[in-house]
Amino acid sequence: MDQFLNQIKKQGYYNLKKFFNLNDILSIKKKILHSINNPDNIKIAKNLKLAVQKDPNIIRYYQSKIKYNLTKKEIRQGYKSYGKKTNKILLDNPINIFGNYFVKLLDNKMIKIIQKKIKNPKIGYLALNCEFKNNLPGNDANLIHTDDNSSLENKTNLLKIAIPFHLMNNDRFEFRQICIHKKKISNVKQYMTLNEIPKNIKKKIQAPNIKCGDAIIFDPNNFFHFGAKTKYNVRIVLTIVVIDKKHPMKNKAKEFKINNNILKSLSKNQKNFCSLFLRN
Ligand SMILES: [Fe+2]
Repeated sequence: MDQFLNQIKKQGYYNLKKFFNLNDILSIKKKILHSINNPDNIKIAKNLKLAVQKDPNIIRYYQSKIKYNLTKKEIRQGYKSYGKKTNKILLDNPINIFGNYFVKLLDNKMIKIIQKKIKNPKIGYLALNCEFKNNLPGNDANLIHTDDNSSLENKTNLLKIAIPFHLMNNDRFEFRQICIHKKKISNVKQYMTLNEIPKNIKKKIQAPNIKCGDAIIFDPNNFFHFGAKTKYNVRIVLTIVVIDKKHPMKNKAKEFKINNNILKSLSKNQKNFCSLFLRN
């Protein structure tokens, strides 16, 4: 069997080594850090500190259920300050932030690998997140979870690609995965802490060998995964959600705009990969 298909099926992930060169990673990281102190570039920034004061159980909920947002003024004070009130922000319009690097991101080799699993793959969603080191409790992404809350196998074609932009030296990505299909695990909840999972399952947790410049492809609906809290002041991760064109998520892709300049530089294969985006 093909190595990629075999690994995605058995352990739920596949390493894409040397996805980006180090200079590109540094330039992109700079662009992102430059963007996050401007409220216009931020789509979601929840005030978790305030939410936890009001309800200590809030970490059990999806981020989206938190009612309190950081104010524009708080964001303008800079991430070193607001990063103490929130664990994570979502940036608006990542394609704009990446600029010409977006073309490199749609790597033809990567598209070919994904085509082994999803015949006509399309980007359904892009999430550029920054997470901060602070004393707040972890939230949903730090808890062990699957993206699909059913215990049955999810057969819709969806894969995620996560690319870290913050790693230094020889550090490994904080992404963790339980390398056993969820249908083989019984009596689990959708969100769990490390203490809540049975010992034999705990043994299956892997820290994939993803370093600076690498990316990981994983199956988030069928395998439990989580991000260990970071030791970095800012953790920067781009997640590309790849779907089949029939997947219900396809409508979400319409919120991403791709400008003609970028579009002109794309190959036919790359254009097809982001054909769910709107042109502006
Ligand atoms: Fe997830």
